[in-house]
Amino acid sequence: MNDLEELVADATLAFADAPTPAELENAKARFLGKAGRVTELMKGLGALSHDEKKSRGAEINQTKQRIEAALQARRQSLANDELNAQLRAEALDVSLPGRHRGTGGLHPVSRTMERIEAIFGSMGFDVADGPEIEDDWYNFTALNTPEDHPARSMHDTFYVDTRSERAGHLLRTHTSPMQVRYAVQHVKRHAGLDPMPEIRVIAPGRTYRVDSDATHSPMFHQCEGLWIGEDVSFKDLKAVFADFFRNLFETDDLQIRFRPSFFPFTEPSAEVDIAFASGPLKGQWLEVAGSGQVHPNVVRNFGLDPERYIGFAFGMGPDRLTMLRYGVNDLRLFYEGDMRFLSQFK
Ligand code: DAH
Repeated sequence: MNDLEELVADATLAFADAPTPAELENAKARFLGKAGRVTELMKGLGALSHDEKKSRGAEINQTKQRIEAALQARRQSLANDELNAQLRAEALDVSLPGRHRGTGGLHPVSRTMERIEAIFGSMGFDVADGPEIEDDWYNFTALNTPEDHPARSMHDTFYVDTRSERAGHLLRTHTSPMQVRYAVQHVKRHAGLDPMPEIRVIAPGRTYRVDSDATHSPMFHQCEGLWIGEDVSFKDLKAVFADFFRNLFETDDLQIRFRPSFFPFTEPSAEVDIAFASGPLKGQWLEVAGSGQVHPNVVRNFGLDPERYIGFAFGMGPDRLTMLRYGVNDLRLFYEGDMRFLSQFK
């Protein structure tokens, strides 16, 4: 390889080694700059004879052109690299969903709650709201569940620290304390009226227990119901339930059954099951509520005479009803906040 070939090879290599445009310009100066190697060669021409100068000069010129071409090629390739890097950095995934202002929607359980309120409202039931941090008396004692009652252990919940000033409080294990809160107020408000106007109320809301699996969540919903008057019986309870469930599920093809059960605050007590006559759950009995005739001790705690006032109460699970309404098989989906699940209910 002669010296000029070598020079072209050196320059090409130096350009290829330059990782950035700035370093490439430095490399260029080493070959084509004022003190660069090509310029040095040109300077050397002066010492040659006329003929030698002509041929050597032409060769050097060619060399210079080849080096300039190599430089240009490297410049182009660096510019391409940069463009590609930029394109990669700004890559657009056109398969991603676009950005838009989302429209909100009600949570499926809220939808069910609203429907429950509307249906019972149409039957003349008031809707009451009450504290989720309840005291022991309303949650248990007033509901005929004294301190040593075994039913309390089925309602294990979250208690306020016994050393705190709110000791004796707990996250309510059911909405039943609202029966007492509402009835006591109702009785006070209508004191002196004879007979007392009937109590007809539902109390939907959040409740808490130490429970967690596909059909239980530590926070869940209940809707309490209470109807007290002088002549309210199981017959009325059955009619109310029949109306309610047919309305809620928008079908008349539905059976209701009462199964004997036990609750401290009712006597007799029953679990309420429903069965659809068609659809995916056809023929299966599904437990949807607890109910019963309000226990005389509880009626007494309302401030009423149990010999005169009688009626029924029930407690149902809006979460379970929502699962049935929409065919959801895992309760936990309601509380995970996953938009892919929730947006289906918009
Ligand atoms: N409080 C009961 C529970 O959480 C449900 C219940 C059953 C409520 C019977 C009632 C009732 O009012 O009469 O399991």
